This record gives sequence, structure tokens and C-alpha cells, in this order.
Amino acid sequence: MTQDNIPLALPDLLGNEEAYVCEAIKSTMISSSGRFVRQFEQDFSSLCGCNSAIGVSNGTVALHLALLGLNVGPGDEVIVPSLTYVATANAVKYVGAEPVFVDIDTDNWCIDPRRLALALTSRTKGIIAVHLYGHPADMDEINKFAEEHDLWVVEDAAEAHTALYKGRPVGGLGQAATFSFYGNKILTSGEGGAVTTSDRELESRMRLLGGQGMSLTQRYYFPVTGYNFRLSNIACAFLCAQLERADTIVKTRRRIFGWYQERLNGIPGIGLQPVCHWATPAPWLFCITVAADHYGHDRNHLMTHLADKGIETRPFFRPLHEMPPFCDQGRKVELPVTVAVSKAGVCLPCYTTLGESSVDRITEIIKAYHS
Ligand SMILES: Cc1ncc(COP(=O)(O)O)c(C=O)c1O
Repeated sequence: MTQDNIPLALPDLLGNEEAYVCEAIKSTMISSSGRFVRQFEQDFSSLCGCNSAIGVSNGTVALHLALLGLNVGPGDEVIVPSLTYVATANAVKYVGAEPVFVDIDTDNWCIDPRRLALALTSRTKGIIAVHLYGHPADMDEINKFAEEHDLWVVEDAAEAHTALYKGRPVGGLGQAATFSFYGNKILTSGEGGAVTTSDRELESRMRLLGGQGMSLTQRYYFPVTGYNFRLSNIACAFLCAQLERADTIVKTRRRIFGWYQERLNGIPGIGLQPVCHWATPAPWLFCITVAADHYGHDRNHLMTHLADKGIETRPFFRPLHEMPPFCDQGRKVELPVTVAVSKAGVCLPCYTTLGESSVDRITEIIKAYHS
């Protein structure tokens, strides 16, 4: 008997997504104003424990808008981790600034606050702390360093909706935070994003810049050169339905994480994502590391083996400081933890309809391949 392929990620569309999208269509409000935009922005800011959320077209644009809002520009430097999706560093380039890479903490795979000082120069303006693979970065330590050096902090929470840092939701822990609602994320609208902030002045500046630069009080008066970063009422309708079920979606994914943890624990050479005692990570993709000397095969061989059996996986991000757009910045960058974790890491499937028998199948294959 052939078994079904198991994809890496699938969206959960089991709530009011279709009903609300139809309502948006019937209302004719299909562009970027309408009741769902207002509702989404209100509900999402509550989820993040902050004053405002601005819907934007994707998570990359959210980062770009946050940096524009914070007046980052040519000559500035922004400290970022190298183990992240390329958008984190690309956004810094979009505004003409330079990303400066810092290594990650072995305890949580996020930027290591103890190493921030190594990257500090007179041009440093801020830090983008990525909550990598759902685990929050150590925000108190990062904010402390930022305050001491008069820097801002942006959270890149693209992969971490609903994660808690010391009991506080991500999204309200820096000057601004950014989210992605791409199809593989915990909450999705296919494409979509948001910036959250509690700073009213920053909010107004971001609304101005992301809304074509049109004055918020005078129609067709453009005091600045802006961008069209808006999110549609249709996408927001989708997101309102997702937010209604956020608790259920997260609980279901946590149950799947529990199945993986039980079954993978103790396999020689297989490491689980580290979790700090102060963190409640968001259950995004299930991350493991492979130590070839103990497991008997390296990460790439395990991925190929799983692919042969119909199971989709994905390698961890490759270090950005080794990529052509970023590697020739005239600085010698050595980030040993980033390089080691990147080489060893693999993401396993996680989506709400992934059953226990599928997790059994995936983990049995991983167990049996150990030699
Ligand atoms: C850490 C991180 N930042 C930014 C983004 C960009 O989001 P989007 O794909 O919605 O542009 C992603 C997307 O996956 C991400 O993982």
C-alpha cells in the first residue's frame, strides 16, 4: 500500500474564512478599507498587547515600513541575526542602511544579547530581534542594551504569532514588531503582514508612509514620498476568521509538538529545539538538529531519506552573512553558532490536520534510520 505524501505546512481554513471573504465581496469593499480592516487591526493589536496594528501586504513590507518609520537611512547600521529569512536583512538594504550580523544564543537560536556590543559602532541605529522558529528572543536583555546605547528595537515576529516572552506576548516588546501571514504561517491570509506598535507617533508615520504618503487628514495632499503597502479588506476578512480560532489553532499545533517531542526524545544524535525557561514559543514548524557522528547520517541525508518516503522537510536558513548580497561588506564576520545550527537543523511538518499516525510515521522513519 502506498502512503500519502506529507507536506511541510498546510493552512487551517476550517473557520469563517470563506463566509467572511464572501461578505467582503458582497459588500463591494474589496480594497484597503472596510469593516474587516478595522476589525483585524483592533483584534491583532489586542493579541499583541499593544496600541495599534497596521495591516500591510506581507512580512517583508512590514519590516521595510518599520525601518522607514524609524527614519533609518543611508549611512546607518542595523544589528540583525544571520540565521533568519533573507527578508530581515533585505529590508535594511531597502532603506539604504547596512545590516551588521551578530551570532545567536545556543539556548534559543535567537540573537545573543551578550554579543551585541561586538557589532556596535557610531553608526548603529537599532536592532532587529528575530523570534526564530517561534522562540522569542531575550527581549529584556536586548532592550537593556538598546536603552544604554540609544537604539531602537524591532521584533521580527514573522514566525512567532502568539509566542510569549516572560508571559508577555511578542509584538509589544520593542518600538515596533512585524508579522507575516504567508500561507505556511500559524495565522495566514495567503499573503499578508502587519506592523504593531504602541508609539502613536510612529504609528502615524507608518500609516502615512505605507499609504502612498497621503496626509492622514487631507486627501490628495502628499507631504512625503510614500509607498502602497496596504492590505485588502478581503485579506483582513480572512485574518479575522483566523484570529477567531487562533487559540484552537495554536492548541492543536502544540499537541502535535508534544507527539514529536515524546517520540524523538532519546534518539542518539537528534536534538530538539532548545526552549528557555522564560519562553512560551509559538508552535510553528517542528525543528530538530542532526549530529551526524551520533546519528550515523548527516542532516542532508536524513532529509533525502524522508523525501524518498514522501515526507517534505526543509533545511534551516543558510547564514545570511555568507550570501553574495551581504558577505562583502568589508568586515570579517565569524558566527560559529549560526553556522553550526544552520548546517544541523531541519524543519519537520506541522499543520493542524497532521494526525498522530502521521507523526508516528515520520518519527519511526527517523528512528529506524539511526545507525
Ligand atoms: C523571520 C522572517 N522575517 C520576514 C519574513 C517575510 O515575510 P513574507 O514572506 O510575508 O514577506 C519571513 C517569511 O517567512 C520570515 O520567516
